[in-house]
Amino acid sequence: MADDLTIQTGGKDGGIVINDDWPGYSLELFNYPKHYSGDLECVYIPHGVIMDRTERLARNIMGDLGDHDIVVLCVLKAGYQFCADLVERIKALSRNSDHTLPMSVNFIRLKSYVNDQSTEDLHIVGAEDLSFLTGKNVLIVEAIVDTGKTMKTLLKHVEAFRPKMIKVAGLLVKRVPNSSGCLPDYVGFEIPNRFVVGYALDYNEYFRDLNHICVISESGKLKYKV
Ligand code: HPA
Ligand code: MG
Repeated sequence: MADDLTIQTGGKDGGIVINDDWPGYSLELFNYPKHYSGDLECVYIPHGVIMDRTERLARNIMGDLGDHDIVVLCVLKAGYQFCADLVERIKALSRNSDHTLPMSVNFIRLKSYVNDQSTEDLHIVGAEDLSFLTGKNVLIVEAIVDTGKTMKTLLKHVEAFRPKMIKVAGLLVKRVPNSSGCLPDYVGFEIPNRFVVGYALDYNEYFRDLNHICVISESGKLKYKV
């Protein structure tokens, strides 16, 4: 590891904590696509709350990194929505303040989940040559961190290209018993150990077209099982 490479885990703000007893909001209180009726248990984090929290994360990131050039590395597929919204808000802040954060955006793809279970083999696609990260300030943007194993593997992979700095933004951090302790620097929400979908998070590729973050129902799991 290069001397000037700093990796910080455990940001100063661990995210909005959603407790284990949070029942979510009744589905009747919100709009969601009719094709998912019966497939969801509740609205866990409404879209508007995600957007408001993202706006604050953008401000924190600007405060820490403003005036450095950054390379955003979006972890697909689930990270696309959070990354797009986060970048949009950083852009808005850049337009409206003396600080400015020149950004380039790149994408890599990871896949490790089948049904609601994590598989051992982690596939990194599109990350063969990350040499454009050398000497750069890198912001990895992920939708969800649970065991932290994916994040650890990814950090190791990215470190090999010797960036100047690596920061990680994760929209969700799941409280799981087998956590590696590897946490993002910027966390949107800390959530219980439940399988959530929506806002680009999927269950076998379904539910990415849902704007709220919701808990999938047992019948939903059965319906889309592979
Ligand atoms: N939902 C969708 N994808 C995931 C989750 C989840 O709760 N945890 C890890 N990948
Ligand atoms: Mg997935």
